[in-house]
Amino acid sequence: MTKPRVIVTRRWPEEVEARLSELFDAQLNADDEPMSQAALKAALSEADALFPTVTDRIDAEVLSAEPLRAKLIGNFGVGFNDIDCASARDRGLVVTNTPEVLTDATADLAMTLLLSVARRAGEGERHLRAGAWSGWRPTHMMGTQVTGKTLGLIGLGRIGRAVARRAHHGFAMKVLFHDPYPPSAEEAAALGAEPCASIEALLEQSDFVSLHCPATPENRHLMNAARLARMKPDAFLINTARGDVVDEAALVEAVSRGTIAGAGLDVFEAEPKVTPELIAMENVVLLPHLGSATRETRAAMGFRVIENATAFFAGEAPRDRVA
Ligand code: DGY
Repeated sequence: MTKPRVIVTRRWPEEVEARLSELFDAQLNADDEPMSQAALKAALSEADALFPTVTDRIDAEVLSAEPLRAKLIGNFGVGFNDIDCASARDRGLVVTNTPEVLTDATADLAMTLLLSVARRAGEGERHLRAGAWSGWRPTHMMGTQVTGKTLGLIGLGRIGRAVARRAHHGFAMKVLFHDPYPPSAEEAAALGAEPCASIEALLEQSDFVSLHCPATPENRHLMNAARLARMKPDAFLINTARGDVVDEAALVEAVSRGTIAGAGLDVFEAEPKVTPELIAMENVVLLPHLGSATRETRAAMGFRVIENATAFFAGEAPRDRVA
């Protein structure tokens, strides 16, 4: 039987690429150069499946490929805002993603950012490496206590819940959340999480605000100037969701004016570009979209794409179908 032809847009972990080559007639991307829009479009005419990721833009133009050979788009990532799902559906394509396997890694990274910005870890490390440390003193680089503070979670899906668990059970934090699709009262209670009727009410009470909502058109600039102004002046904003959930220009204003105390960001509006003012700020911790970047998680993400594709080509329903 001929193997399905699949095109993978970026390099994947070695063990996953080896399995891809066993199971499929796989075109890998050894150079890891992002594919152009034209190459992505051509891929849909050449292969039975395309395996893109967060850095690709599978838009209506790409999806207008003729003739269309592909039947499956297996996204490497839980967020699938890189894909125009409505156009994919119109063209009869099935779209899958990789939920669950990156929940813990992303929650760990949200806590990394929260702790780093509160305890001035990035600033302290830069200080030491620059040879500027003159020794311990009682008032040197005092940060903000995390234990026992209030964390507001915007979105209490899988990752939001994993952050709540860490914050409440690990750091004795009071956890508030706002989610249009809240979990049951028992589930929330097990996480020590209390619902807030509005985002504004959550912002006003939280010492840390962490974003865990999807990048839908409705959530674009959810954290705008007005909402940032509702946060406490000594509070911090953490974003491991998607860059465009925050109005980056408004955030720069809020941090530079002291409307909020600082931010921890793993995602940006125009990745890999980062607003230069943010780079100049000591009270902002910046990471290059590392949420899922552990060896274990990235391999699990790749194997999850393979699991979905294998089911699809066997005529079964893939478990992570999103369109
Ligand atoms: C995802 O899966 O959506 C992440 O942003 C990639 O780590």
